[in-house]
Amino acid sequence: MPSRIVTLTVNDADHELIATPGLTLLAALRDALGLTAAKRGCAQGTCGSCVVLLDERAVPACLVPVETVDGAAVRTLEGVAAGGELDEVQSAFLDGFATQCGFCTSGMIMAAEALLADNPSPSRQDVVEAISGNVCRCTGYEPIVAAVLDAARRRAGRTA
Ligand code: FES
Ligand code: FES
Repeated sequence: MPSRIVTLTVNDADHELIATPGLTLLAALRDALGLTAAKRGCAQGTCGSCVVLLDERAVPACLVPVETVDGAAVRTLEGVAAGGELDEVQSAFLDGFATQCGFCTSGMIMAAEALLADNPSPSRQDVVEAISGNVCRCTGYEPIVAAVLDAARRRAGRTA
């Protein structure tokens, strides 16, 4: 299959990329665009460290061939903070000590962003299910679940 040019809107900026055969969205983000928040962990869709929003859905970017998403909108952790201000999810992770080594954090936050966009008042079980594809080797998950619930409360307070 020959290479082709694809256009992606990443964090509200348009980019043209050369989609070589087999190039993943993760590789395009990290290696072509220099957006390294999404991490390359398992590279087979099982750890969640590479999760980004693709047309508002949380997806493991390591499994997405970039030639299949021509014209899509992608948001990465780099695009979450508005005007340099941490958003509620980021602030709640920081304040709640929900990150240790940080390798999982980008994927966790993007999974949480997708959840809260779809369900602003999630139950604990909703949060557990939303991050069920994201592995964390450090925190034991409890601070992460608590931070996502805290973020929902913060966001509700902001919009009340
Ligand atoms: S690197 Fe993509 S799911 Fe693990
Ligand atoms: S904070 Fe280290 S893997 Fe989650």
